Parts: sequence; C-alpha cells; structure tokens
Amino acid sequence: MCGIVGYIGKREKREFLLDGLRELEYRGYDSAGIAVLHQNEINYFKAGGKLDNLIEKTKDFRSIGFGLGIAHTRWATHGKPTEINAHPHWGEFSFVIHNGIIENYMEIKKELQSEGVVFLSQTDSEVIVHLFEKFISQNLTPQIAFEKTVQSLKGAFAVLLISKVASETIFFAKNAVPLILGKSSIDEIFFGSSDAPLIGFADEVTYLEDGTYGWANKEEIQIYKGSQKLKPVFKPLNTSKIYAQKDGFRFFMEKEIYEQSAVASETLMGRIKDDKVFLEELNGYDFNDIDEIKICACGTSYHAALTSSYLFERLAKIRCSVEIASEFRYKEPLLDKKTLFLVISQSGETADTLEALKMAKRAGLKTLSICNVDNSSIVRLSDATILTRAGIEKGVASTKAFATQVLSLWLLALHVAKFNNNISDEKCTSEIKAIRGIPAVLKVDEEIHEKLHRLSKRYLHGHGFFFIGRDIFFPLALEGALKLKEISYLHAEGYPAGEMKHGPIALADSTLFTVALMPQNMLYDKTKSNVEELSARDATILAISPKEFVLADDFIKTQPYEHPMSEFFEMMVITQLLALEISIRLGNDVDMPRNLAKSVTVE
Ligand code: F6R
Repeated sequence: MCGIVGYIGKREKREFLLDGLRELEYRGYDSAGIAVLHQNEINYFKAGGKLDNLIEKTKDFRSIGFGLGIAHTRWATHGKPTEINAHPHWGEFSFVIHNGIIENYMEIKKELQSEGVVFLSQTDSEVIVHLFEKFISQNLTPQIAFEKTVQSLKGAFAVLLISKVASETIFFAKNAVPLILGKSSIDEIFFGSSDAPLIGFADEVTYLEDGTYGWANKEEIQIYKGSQKLKPVFKPLNTSKIYAQKDGFRFFMEKEIYEQSAVASETLMGRIKDDKVFLEELNGYDFNDIDEIKICACGTSYHAALTSSYLFERLAKIRCSVEIASEFRYKEPLLDKKTLFLVISQSGETADTLEALKMAKRAGLKTLSICNVDNSSIVRLSDATILTRAGIEKGVASTKAFATQVLSLWLLALHVAKFNNNISDEKCTSEIKAIRGIPAVLKVDEEIHEKLHRLSKRYLHGHGFFFIGRDIFFPLALEGALKLKEISYLHAEGYPAGEMKHGPIALADSTLFTVALMPQNMLYDKTKSNVEELSARDATILAISPKEFVLADDFIKTQPYEHPMSEFFEMMVITQLLALEISIRLGNDVDMPRNLAKSVTVE
C-alpha cells in the first residue's frame, strides 16, 4: 500500500523524506520517489524496487535551508510497478503524489489529452497535476486552481502537490485514505500517511477528515471542507515509534484486524467496473481447456482455499479440489493437463506450497497464484498471479491476508463463471453488489469488540474449543480454531457442524466450549439442530448469529446480511477478535506466538 511523506522547513529535505519513507516500508511498495522544491527549483528522483535504489540515486543530492519536499512509496494498482509509474508525477511546473484511486481519471485524462496534454505514465494519479496546471493556465490563483482540481476528482485520495507557482506551499487533499498534518515548535510542517514518519519531529498533529483539502506554508495552514473553512484540532503526538507503527493498537494483530476494511477496498480497487469483474492480471489467460481447479496451500491459506472451493463449484460450476501442500507433495498425485493448479500463499515463500507448484509445472499444468508479496518465489514461478494487496502483515497470526485471499478468490470464481458462461447476469450483479459491501462489513463494531473483551474472561480454562459451521462456515470454523490455538495455546478444533455426532460429541460437557457459527443464509436450521445436540449434552455454547438462539450461554448478535459471504466476513472478524482477547488476557505475546514463524521456508 502506498505511503506519503511531506515536509516544509529548514531541515535537510532528502534525509527527512527518505527516513520517513523508511518508516512506511512495512506497508509494502514496489517503487518510490521524492521531489524537493528549493529556491524555485524542483529536483526529483524516482526508482523502481526497494528504497535502497532511491537512496543510491539521490546520494549526491542535498537541500539545505528553507524549502519543501514530498515523497512517496507506490504499491501498483493502475499501471505496472515501473519507474515511470512511480510518484511524483509532474506537469510543466508542478509535482504530485497520490494514494488511493481516482475513479473518474479516464474521463479527465481523455479530456486533457484532447486539449493536447501528454501523459507519461499509465497511472490515474497523473491527471491531478495536469488538471491543476490547466486551471493555473486559466489565470486562477493556485488556491482556487487546487480547489477546482480536488472538486473534479471522484474516488479515494490523499494528495500532496507542490508547484513553482506557489513555491513555499504544499497543497493537500484527503478523502477515504489517511493523511496526517503535523507541526513543530520551530515552524516546520509535516505530512504523513501515518504517524510513523512524524514521530520525533512533529509536536502536534491533526488527522485530516474525509472531504478536506487545503494548503500549508510558513505563514498559514488553511483547511476547507466544501466551501467551509475548518479550524484544525491539533493533538500532541505520541513519541514512541512502535506505538506509532501500531497506530495506538495494543498489537499489530489488532491493528491488522481493524485494517481489514481498508485493505479489502485495496483488493477491490480497479477490479470491479459496471458490475463486472476485471482481473487485469488474467488478460489473455484462457480457461477454455480447464475442467477442474486444484488448489494447494498451507495453514490459513489452506482455509481460504477450502472456502473458495464452495464458490468455484457453486458460482463457476467447475470442479474444485483442495489439498494441503505438504500432503500433496508425497502422495504421487495424478495430474491432468485440464486441471488448473492454483496455489495460495500470503508470503509467496512457503516451502511446501512452492514445491507443489513446481511439481504442477513439471507436469505441464497451467498455474495461477493468489499471493500478497509481489516478486516472491511463488509469484515468479506462476503463470499468473492475483495480488491480494493486504500490505505487509506483521502479526504472525494471519488476519487481513486471509480476508483478502478469500475476497480475491471470490472475484476469481466470478471471473471463471463469466468466462465459461456459467452465471446469469442477474446472479453476477447480485454477487458484485455483495462484494462491494464487504469493506463496510469488515469495519470492526466497537460494541462487539467490547463484548468479546468482557466474554473472553470466561473462556480461559476448560478442556478445549470446538468451532463449528457448515458449508463455507466450516473452513471459517477451521480458521477460527487455528487463530485461537496459535495465539492462546488453548486446544481448539474446527469441525463441520453435522459431523460432531460422529465422534467428537463424546467430549461434550460444560467445560467444552463450542463456538457456533449460525448464519441466517446458509443451512441455519441444520446448524441449529447440531448446536442443540451439543447443548443437550451440557456443552457451553457461544452462538454467533443474527437470529436469537435461546440455548446459547453467550450470544454475539450479527447483522442480518442477505448474502452468506457478508455473514462470513462479519463472523471472521468476530472469531479473530475472540482469539485476540483471550490471548491478551492470558498475557501472551499476540504478535509473536511461541514456536511460530511468519514465513515457513522449510518443509
Ligand atoms: C496462520 C498462518 C499460517 C500460514 C501458513 C502458510 O495464522 O499465518 O498458517 O497461513 O504458514 O503461509 P503462507 O500463506 O505464507 O503460504
């Protein structure tokens, strides 16, 4: 995900901007750039790949004395991760950096091109700087030109713009993407897409509201919303770096759970237009000769795979089987060239998944991967990849990576369904409507979080947990149990609700905790009967459902969503928070659970 840093003051600009970008590296990026405006000269540098490349390119550049600068790390969405697509983008005399997506950029671009403007990049962001300069050429003041530019943009954006026409000013705008403005006692002004680059420099910060824009220079900071001038509220900035990286959350895992709504928007960015799925990565990828999908993965990614197997069969009407990569490797599998081999991996480096992919390639199968890390081994080896765009996940227990895997797989199932003409337009439209709603579903409900915090104290003992569900809620039960056991070290199992009576029900007593996933849109009555069987044997039931359930010992009421996948994502957040709260009460290191590693590169 992209990062933004901005500065006005006397400090050496290169060093401040590059250090700031370093603080944002954890978000993930594939290119970077800076622009510095000093004595009415603008120097700019861009580099593909790691920040070290930009550091090398700028090693002889210094900017001493008053001036300003903007810096950016880019995570490609529109256009490939090349140097030319890296930010800043420029016009004749101005430079811009941008996070987010400009939904109407095509319209603006076409209009500007028809007026003779030449575009250098494939990005949506470049329209901002040309639009600003067009308004300047109409003799508007820089302030009005910027205001008109912002008013022309639709979508999500955090923007910083500098220009020779206002050589002491940074123009900024913020909508649905974070942007922070800070100041210090020595008349410096700072910008950041999170607190992290500002810690140790800014004394106070203001978290800009959605729909705001303005400009800052050493004389004034002006912030507007519509035509209304706002009085910014500045708050002291915490001085701990770690606190800043966690944005005030207790653990990275908690932060990442709260980030899921935003990263889901990133996953979807540019991939749905006019009620159709657009997976640019699959242009030219032919599903005609494919009659089965085989998915291989490990751990949480395996649970995402299992979830998607229901979607592939139900929506795309294509056979789908799922295997744990370490099992697949040694079973001497029979592979057929009509099978598409799909691997799922957050890190892209998991040894078993990588080896399974190599086996499939050797057998001549078409391959595809769902991955969060561009340029990882799995991405490099696959015929094509859908990047999940979750940003770097620091908590060892995977949360936002899982959410974005499932969302990407849902998009893929619809893409295949459409490719094979196996889905009606009405069905596709209703699926897309549900998909569009997922970022909102993923917003953490603070009341539910508080309730789980209170409930968690009742679940610290006992002889184990069963998470149960049916259909797609069975893999979610597996994932809920895995989250809990990884970070709390309590025994937990996920089970298909209908399977309990074939053995595990023997364990039922009051100290067996059952977390029952009871969605209203997926086999509610069947699941309810299974939970009743457990309740009759005195198991303690934590029911998660939009429907009241009288036999529940504890109850978390969910929203009455109309689509089972919306219920899936809401319940996913609840099971993640339950695991988190239990683990915190037990005093465990949530982010670095014992015996576990983030990337498992040994078999
Ligand atoms: C659990 C978790 C692991 C990983 C597994 C595969 O929270 O993160 O189970 O899912 O090690 O890793 P990737 O997805 O990187 O292949």
